[in-house]
Order: sequence, then C-alpha cells, then structure tokens
Amino acid sequence: MLKVAILGFGFMGRMHYRCWRSLAGATVTAVCDADPHALDESARNRGNIAGAEGDVDLAGVKVYGDFEEMLRQEPLDALSITIPTHLHPAATIAALDAGLHVLCEKPMALNLADGTRMIEAAQRSGKVLQIGHCIRFWPEYAKAKEIVDSGVHGRVIAATFQRLAATAARRQQTWYVDAERSGGMALDLHIHDTDFVQYLFGVPQNVCSHGASVPAGGLAHIVTRYGYDDDKLVLAEGGWAMMPPFGFQMRFHIALESATLDFDFHRDPKLRLSTAAGEMIVPPCEPGDGYARQIEHFARRIRGEDVPDVVTPQEALLSLRIIEAERESAHTGRPVTIGGPNAEEESSHAV
Ligand SMILES: NC(=O)c1ccc[n+]([C@@H]2O[C@H](COP(=O)([O-])OP(=O)(O)OC[C@H]3O[C@@H](n4cnc5c(N)ncnc54)[C@H](O)[C@@H]3O)[C@@H](O)[C@H]2O)c1
Repeated sequence: MLKVAILGFGFMGRMHYRCWRSLAGATVTAVCDADPHALDESARNRGNIAGAEGDVDLAGVKVYGDFEEMLRQEPLDALSITIPTHLHPAATIAALDAGLHVLCEKPMALNLADGTRMIEAAQRSGKVLQIGHCIRFWPEYAKAKEIVDSGVHGRVIAATFQRLAATAARRQQTWYVDAERSGGMALDLHIHDTDFVQYLFGVPQNVCSHGASVPAGGLAHIVTRYGYDDDKLVLAEGGWAMMPPFGFQMRFHIALESATLDFDFHRDPKLRLSTAAGEMIVPPCEPGDGYARQIEHFARRIRGEDVPDVVTPQEALLSLRIIEAERESAHTGRPVTIGGPNAEEESSHAV
C-alpha cells in the first residue's frame, strides 16, 4: 500500500485527495496546509473544473500545518504537491531528497533554472518526479493524440486549441494574480495547451504570439502560432479575464486530411470525429478525467510497472521554455525562435 501525503489543501489539493482516495493500493495518510482554515467549508469549490467540491472526509488522516514537520514525522512513499507555483521547487527538492516520489502540479516552476534544479534532484534521488500536465491524460485529448499519431486520417492541416477562464475575477485576492507567485496567465493557464501542442507535434521551431494585458495582473489573453518545418497551422488561445458567469471553457479543433476532430468540454458528446465519408463518429474515450488518470499513472510508475513516458520532467521544462518564448514574442511583437533542447550547446558549437 502506497502511503501518500498532500501538500496544500486548496482546490487542487482536494482534487488530488479525491483521486488518491479512489485509487486501489494507495492511502492518503497525511495532508499539510499552512492555512489552518484550509479545511473549512469556505475553502471549497474555488477552481475552474468541478470535482474538488463536496465533503472531505479526513478520518484517519493526520493533518499538519508545517511541511518540514510532516516530512520528519510521517513514513511516506509519495507526495502530491499542490501549493502555489513559486513554492514548487523548494518543496519538490526537499521531498525528493527525503526519498519520496513526487507528483508536482504544473507549471513545475516559475523559471528554467528552478525547473532544472528539480530535475537534478530527481536524478540524484532516483525517485519518480512527475509534473501535473493533466491534459496529456485527459481522455479526449489522449484519444485525439492516438488518432493523430495513427496517421489513419492523414496529416494535420490545422489545429486550434482554446482555454478561457474567469480566474482574474474569481481569484482576485489570491496569489494567482501575482505574477511573482503564479507566473501569470500564460504560465498558469495557457501552458496546458502549450504543453499539449508539444506532446502532439514536438517542440516548435518558433512561436509568434499576440497578447492583451489588464492594468493589474499583466498578460490576460494570448494567441500563439507555433511554427514547425511544414505549413500546418497550429494555434492556441488562452485567457483568464472572462467574467465569472462565463465559467470555464476548453476546446480544440484538429483538421486532418480526411477527418476533423473537435472537442468541447461542455458538449455531449465532448469529442467528435467527422469523416470524409460524411459520418460523425464519437470516438470511445477512457472514463474519468485527466487528474485521476495522471495519478493512476504516477502510482504505476512508482510501482515500477512498464508504462509509457507520458510526460517527462524534461518535457515539462521545455513547456516552460516555450511559454517564456511566447511571452517574449507577445511583448516584442516579433516571432521568437525556440531551438532544440540543446540549443545553447548547439549554438556555442556553431561559432
Ligand atoms: N492541473 C490543473 O488543472 C490545475 C488547476 C488549478 C491549479 N493548478 C496548480 O495547482 C497549484 C495549486 O493551485 P490551487 O488552485 O489548488 O491553489 P489554492 O490557493 O486553492 O491552494 C493552495 C493551498 O496551498 C496552501 N499553502 C500555501 N503555502 C503553503 C505552504 N508553504 N505549506 C503548506 N500549504 C501551503 C494554501 O493555504 C492553500 O490552501 C498551482 O501550482 C496551480 O497552478 C493546476
């Protein structure tokens, strides 16, 4: 039985708790939150996607207010890190150094240097470090990747992704609107689609972004074209300045040579495949959501099962790098070249 703790019991901490509790072979033995009111009723239901609300039964679970104390006192195998983003690196490195496997929420860190230190800690410890890029595990997105990769419907002509939220209004008084703590909209929200674009097509050669800012809180909306060595058009739009009644939306359209895939989070069926033969098919998807599926995957990796590398820490770091390029492009109004994972090394060899 895997003994698991959760660090940070806000929106995502509750989500991880729900997922761990429904997974066989694992038990949540401790939760830690620095805010003594984090377990109150008022702390519920604060995020984008429903699922973390409802009664939290903490019977038999030890509650800590201090992470270091929990690390010292609890015999643990794994930790879910669901605290604000600027705190991810220190907590991840401490947990890995203490011999725990770590599932750390996305984005892994605010910058490449911190993300690199997290990867080095994982390599040093030999433990699993997984970053919570849950969209790679989201059933309809995973199915879309399977269909695109199969090549059955030809190559991708165009793919557009969209993610819109009311975070700026709903979480006005929180760490989210402080770019020093959250990284701002692009790193916090839009990275889901940036990361999925990387998963589907690899690291783009360049990005060309346009953004709009709000007076308090910086970049609030972004549209990016991801450039590859062919002429497919890959676009993603992200924004968190929607008003609360709008709620949340994630969508995509993928035009293949002989079929069209489209997904709408609020529609039933969510994912459809329209074919050249005039049929509309509902591709069968795995049950559940990306949160539960990523946690199941993490548990299987800890147990040493032979599962594919759905998301590596290096890929999570590359998603940070692409976001940095998108922000630079939105700021300067010019396309930004990304280069390969060893771009700095390659360019130093070139001179
Ligand atoms: N994968 C996704 O779809 C998704 C969705 C939302 C948030 N997130 C990510 O999850 C992380 C948490 O976001 P959230 O919405 O749950 O935030 P939140 O504000 O709802 O919860 C964070 C919790 O951490 C606690 N905390 C802060 N500092 C702490 C410390 N030093 N020790 C212990 N507890 C501490 C806070 O008291 C709070 O209860 C962020 O990195 C965010 O980007 C991911």
